[in-house]
Amino acid sequence: MELTLTRPDDWHLHVRDGVDLGSVIAHTAQQFARAIIMPNLKPPVTTTGQALAYRERILAALPQGSDFTPLMTLYLTDNTTPDMVMEAAASKAIHAFKLYPAGATTHSDAGVTDISNTFAALDAMQAHGMPLLVHAEVTDAAVDVFDREHVYIDRVLEPLTHRYPELKIVLEHVTTQDGVDFVLAGNARLAATITAHHLLLNRNAMFSGGLRPHAYCLPVLKRETHRRTLIKAATSGNPKFFLGTDSAPHARERKESGCGCAGIYTAHAALELYAQVFEDAGALNRLEGFASQYGADFYGLPRNTGSITLEKNDWTVPENYPLGNSTLIPMHAGQTLHWRIKQ
Ligand code: NCD
Ligand code: ZN
Repeated sequence: MELTLTRPDDWHLHVRDGVDLGSVIAHTAQQFARAIIMPNLKPPVTTTGQALAYRERILAALPQGSDFTPLMTLYLTDNTTPDMVMEAAASKAIHAFKLYPAGATTHSDAGVTDISNTFAALDAMQAHGMPLLVHAEVTDAAVDVFDREHVYIDRVLEPLTHRYPELKIVLEHVTTQDGVDFVLAGNARLAATITAHHLLLNRNAMFSGGLRPHAYCLPVLKRETHRRTLIKAATSGNPKFFLGTDSAPHARERKESGCGCAGIYTAHAALELYAQVFEDAGALNRLEGFASQYGADFYGLPRNTGSITLEKNDWTVPENYPLGNSTLIPMHAGQTLHWRIKQ
């Protein structure tokens, strides 16, 4: 069996920098035409100048002959000014701002401490049609880690959609029924990305037979009812939901640790993993909209030309891949996948 799609895009991706970038970028470039590149480097990418320089480093790290296009983002901080938004919009290479609540996840300590500090920047983003990408989790230690998404929606995101009805907002890596309901109830400028790992795993994966650091990401995996809701949303054909892997490489020893980093690596088999989800849901005919159309439409970018073909052909995921001077453990390491990109 084969499935041919318009070339897809990844609307949420971490590729890091330096030697790590060189290790992972080929995986994404091999299947996606474009990807929204997350700005959570250390230090974060907060200015257009930094993003353009980062873009050059990504282009330089691509395999020979690749036509992959990195779509850059800026890291929103308490100090982002309307002028910085204007400069980003004028650059044409910057496609969004990413809002990390301070302390919510990996390299987010420079994030926004109070949403009201960003209002001037958000006004400018709304005026320039610049999307806001949101890591929607409260950092309040009093809130249970499994409730952080819906509490963030109630406290911050819902009010924000009323204050900025024209602002394009993406609820990144939505993980809950509450998140899906919120996106469904919103206007056409409110959308969400969905990861492959949140479609394939529930929170039991973190504890199966022992503590499983490679199944730990943020937002953390949720219970099975939420996973089912995500599958329904992703396979519904509703253009508010599109592909964003949140593939997040970390060196093995940083995850297998007394305080392991959050992040699941899926770039080695992103489309294959999504294809399995859509096949299991009886919705393979809806994969193309989710992977290759709705995201581009939302961002106001042309859909890709060209195509990619998946075939039913078992293969075994390697136990690890190089990551700079170390290795990373990919999702489903050592396991058999049924879909494969046809070379
Ligand atoms: C991401 C990372 O490692 O950069 N980790 C993750 O678990 N998703 C950060 C993020 O997007 O939250
Ligand atoms: Zn991410």
